[in-house]
Amino acid sequence: MTTIINVANQKGGVGKTTTAVTLGHGLSLAGRRVLIVDLDPQGHVAFALGMKKTNGLYRLLVESEPLHKVAEEARPNLDIIACDKTGEAVGRHVTTQNYREKIVKKALKGATYDVIILDTPPSLGVLHVAALVASHWILIPTKLDAMAVDGVNEILRSMAEVEQGEDDPHKFEGYSILPTFFDRTTKETTIQLRELVNAFGKIVWPPIPQDTKAREAAAYGKTLWEYSPDSPSIVGYQFNGKRAGGYLDLLERIKEVIR
Ligand SMILES: Nc1ncnc2c1ncn2[C@@H]1O[C@H](COP(=O)(O)OP(=O)(O)OP(=O)(O)O)[C@@H](O)[C@H]1O
Ligand SMILES: [Mg+2]
Repeated sequence: MTTIINVANQKGGVGKTTTAVTLGHGLSLAGRRVLIVDLDPQGHVAFALGMKKTNGLYRLLVESEPLHKVAEEARPNLDIIACDKTGEAVGRHVTTQNYREKIVKKALKGATYDVIILDTPPSLGVLHVAALVASHWILIPTKLDAMAVDGVNEILRSMAEVEQGEDDPHKFEGYSILPTFFDRTTKETTIQLRELVNAFGKIVWPPIPQDTKAREAAAYGKTLWEYSPDSPSIVGYQFNGKRAGGYLDLLERIKEVIR
């Protein structure tokens, strides 16, 4: 069985791509067969993995090429469907199709991966809905600012619309909120984290700390497991001698979610 995880937030620069790539590579290192699909014309998934941006998404969704022909190997056990600026035309194409909401689900049907991760653009277009309809689990990275609760609520609204879809309602297996850019030294992010937990409770997972290593890793085309595997600050964030967040924590939680 394949578990499809959708990394979504219509707000830009909240750590979606970093999370998709770090999680995807982490799962592949743990022996899972993983595919990351880049639905964003910015093409940052390929970039972050040190690869070239290509028109993979266009070939998959517009030219209907089979998944196995379009997927590119990024690392052992880790493939990607890359995207580039042709991704903008994908959005326009999808709008004209009457099966538009199912287009991603159809394209991924029969895939033999254990996990498929969808990295989505910072917008709420038809592709966003198509990605939701294809997904089992929604992972919502959010920065810890005053708009965080509002931003999460907006995604929850579109999820509710998809679940109430008239002809073919879709049921998600679950969702979680991933606070990103956490900085324990500033009062603001700590207060916002508490607000998020007050609003959403246990579905708020332990935070990912802010760390320049995340930026550097992407610039070198390496994942955090390659660039900074032993970094307690971002990979396995420690507080009072215990792991209290970071990407190792996320990896463990996602392993419990996938089938
Ligand atoms: N925990 C972190 N600490 C510091 N920098 C980070 C962290 N996570 C991501 N970054 C950097 O912040 C920038 C935005 O992150 P990223 O591209 O993952 O966000 P995004 O939500 O995918 O953005 P977009 O909405 O544009 O697709 C990148 O330069 C990335 O390297
Ligand atoms: Mg991104």
